[in-house]
Amino acid sequence: MDAGVGITEPINGGPIHGVAVVPPGLENAAASELTALGCRAVSPLLRAVRFQSDLAGFYRLHLQARLPFRLLRQLAHFPCSSKDELYDGVQRAVDWSRWLPPGTSFRVDATGTAPGLNHSHYSALQVKNALVDLQRQQWGARSSVDLDDPDLALHLHLGGGEANLSLDGSGGSLHRRGYRAAMGLAPLKENLAAGLIALTGWDGSVPLADPLCGSGTLLIEAARLALGLAPGLGRHFALERWPDFDPQLWQQERQAATALALASVDPLPPIVGMEQDPAVLEQARSNAKAGGVAEALDLRLGDCRDFQPPAGPGILVCNPPYGERIGERDALEPLYADLGRMMKERCSGWSLWLLSGNPELTGALKMKASRRIPISNGGIDCRWLHYEIR
Ligand SMILES: C[S@@+](CC[C@H](N)C(=O)[O-])C[C@H]1O[C@@H](n2cnc3c(N)ncnc32)[C@H](O)[C@@H]1O
Repeated sequence: MDAGVGITEPINGGPIHGVAVVPPGLENAAASELTALGCRAVSPLLRAVRFQSDLAGFYRLHLQARLPFRLLRQLAHFPCSSKDELYDGVQRAVDWSRWLPPGTSFRVDATGTAPGLNHSHYSALQVKNALVDLQRQQWGARSSVDLDDPDLALHLHLGGGEANLSLDGSGGSLHRRGYRAAMGLAPLKENLAAGLIALTGWDGSVPLADPLCGSGTLLIEAARLALGLAPGLGRHFALERWPDFDPQLWQQERQAATALALASVDPLPPIVGMEQDPAVLEQARSNAKAGGVAEALDLRLGDCRDFQPPAGPGILVCNPPYGERIGERDALEPLYADLGRMMKERCSGWSLWLLSGNPELTGALKMKASRRIPISNGGIDCRWLHYEIR
């Protein structure tokens, strides 16, 4: 191998050096999840978590991890401070006859920057050109580019004078669990909802309620977690088309993920949602059904001001409108004030986690947050606020 190119991924054997791309604010929670799923050398970065695993562990993450958007497997890293260095480094990165023979389609996504490589689209194009030029030289034929369903999804990250070239194990974003055909107004992404639930520490032993549940994402993710329903079962992933795909190992990991559901047979405590819009409530119901948790959820039509919690104490979670995307701030202030009153009257002893995109509105709750965790929700700077209701 030429000097300067660091191969981190021998094709057979050796640990996988991976990066999980995660929602901003959930880095530590995702690091805990990855550790619990058997990863080693786990370290949170910005919007990402670095880890090492074996192939079985990498498969396990695709089947069981709830927080990542993507799981990347590093192929090579090399110094990169110009477009020519990128071009050469990519060509020398791995034995492309194994990973990308001309009959294999591919796609390149890029993030980050390097000198002369300030536009990710251009950087991706540079990688593509390096690969098809190499193929033409070696085999007189080239791979086709397939943006929607490639055989190999490559990911380039540029930063700190280095290029990191990885394979995207899923091909599409892992937040799309497949149960959510219907979406209410401003729904949370499924992995963000799962991460928010993880931050509450809810473990399925006390009631959980969302008095403004929208299409139900927080409650559905919570119920799926408590019932051990692995998010990746029933999906196909890009890694199933990799040259070193091990169908037996994949099957083993699928069986282990399936067995998690069979193991959790204890009845769950009440998981209650309320939504004032009948059409949105219907979406929550159909999502819960598609997600296999309809029986576990009690979804009610009504105004959160009329919410009656189940016997508690338990945990309230909610993501009320905050005026940025739906509703107006002035009109929303009375809603927050009423919500604060309702909770103090009826939910004493419960704990509340509220996703806020607007500190002025949360002031109207007239409650003091004991924790404020910065979270980005679709690019909006939010706080996951924790209150003890007295
Ligand atoms: C930001 S959305 C919640 C999204 C939800 N977390 C999801 O993932 O689908 C806020 C929801 O609160 C509902 N809502 C607004 N005012 C309400 C009220 N007074 N009572 C009950 N629900 C209300 C809206 O209809 C909307 O569906």
